[in-house]
Amino acid sequence: MANAAKKWTPESWRGKPALHIPGDYPDPEALEAVEQELTRHPPLVFAGEIRTLRQRLAAVAEGKAFLLQGGDCAESFKEFHPDNIRDTFRVLLQMAVALTYGAAMPVIKVGRMAGQYGKPRSSPTETIDGITLPSYRGDNINAAAFTPEARLPDPQRLLKAYGQSAATLNLIRAFAKGGYADLRNVHQWNLEFVKDNPQSDRYAELADKISDVIAFLEATGIISEENRPVHEVEFYTSHEGLLLGYEQAMTRVDSTSGRYYDTSAHLVWIGDRTRQPDGAHVEFARGIGNPIGIKCGPSLDPAELMQLLDILNPGNEAGRIVLISRFGAEKVSAGLPRLIRKVEEEGRNVVWSSDPMHGNTIKAENGYKTRPFDKILKEVETFFDICRAEGAHPGGVHFEMTGQDVTECLGGAQAISVNELSSRYHTHCDPRLNATQSLELAFRLAENLRAVRTSKAA
Ligand code: PEP
Ligand code: CO
Repeated sequence: MANAAKKWTPESWRGKPALHIPGDYPDPEALEAVEQELTRHPPLVFAGEIRTLRQRLAAVAEGKAFLLQGGDCAESFKEFHPDNIRDTFRVLLQMAVALTYGAAMPVIKVGRMAGQYGKPRSSPTETIDGITLPSYRGDNINAAAFTPEARLPDPQRLLKAYGQSAATLNLIRAFAKGGYADLRNVHQWNLEFVKDNPQSDRYAELADKISDVIAFLEATGIISEENRPVHEVEFYTSHEGLLLGYEQAMTRVDSTSGRYYDTSAHLVWIGDRTRQPDGAHVEFARGIGNPIGIKCGPSLDPAELMQLLDILNPGNEAGRIVLISRFGAEKVSAGLPRLIRKVEEEGRNVVWSSDPMHGNTIKAENGYKTRPFDKILKEVETFFDICRAEGAHPGGVHFEMTGQDVTECLGGAQAISVNELSSRYHTHCDPRLNATQSLELAFRLAENLRAVRTSKAA
């Protein structure tokens, strides 16, 4: 029987091949007990919020809004700190301001935050100096230290990740609704930037324009104290729906609609390595009401993409699917057009977004895993061009980034060199854009969006 025709339950994925989920917990009963315990933990997000995000994404699919998704490659227990959460949140707000200005469209803000812990790894083991151990798989599974004890999966880590996600989300909600994200503070988001930040002046200039417009609109009475879009921000969370035991435990029936929602995040995505149409991750995702991201890399062909859309969005609802293109700057021109063409031909409603990170990872000559800023920018610009040429809306971007001043990606206006990588290379997973590079990228993309918009209007 076809996958989509069989009965779905929150645990029906357990009968399917499940890649990248550890099967080597030393005490499987302890894992089961933790998963049971998690079913009694409060939901992190609510079904009503998830439905609102679906409406927002439907607007993106229709070409009326733009999606900004970003955050750590993987959150960690070590980097957990209110300042880190604030800084990433703040840079996302700044980027959204630049993109809103450029696109003249609402920008839907989605963090890779408050739940992005587990990682698919290219190899299940790691060998150093002749010693082979299981790979590090993310802080919700095992620890990064290269010892046999650290690399053993520990179910207690799931509870800690849940707690950290809850605390992160609590702070984000406070920032989003409690005054910090008020657009009238647009200047203050810039204050704590390092002084010599090349993007700082540019941002201040834009903030001046925005403040002028707000002052004008307040004076005319068009916006007031009660005007929520100015004083509050809608901010959503997302992570890769990788560890299905955890996702299952967080999946609940919504009493309003009678539907199942995965309450661990507003949006979950399926990784490039786990999107097999007959696999566990697709099976799990098809039954939940959340918007679903699908990473689309070079190994995905158009027919398989249609199969995935049949399974995951049989009703062809706009706002359900975000297709996240991640080919690499050199491969995107060869791989993406045929996917878009097929989607257009079949009239599928999707959001097209660009992840310019995962196809542009290189090893620098000194051994550091890095990504060149120019390639990241080039992939998004090429993605924009391809979407436009194929008649699709270039709907969004997906970045691995942080509000910290790290040196993990090369280049940008700061001109981070190979030799500088070691100075503040903090990621324990993939290299992230730092705050300055993130904002610079947002400005460059905003210019692109604005140029196209104004040339169309002319
Ligand atoms: C990721 O987004 O962290 C990731 C692993 O991406 P992909 O599945 O596209 O490789
Ligand atoms: Co990554």
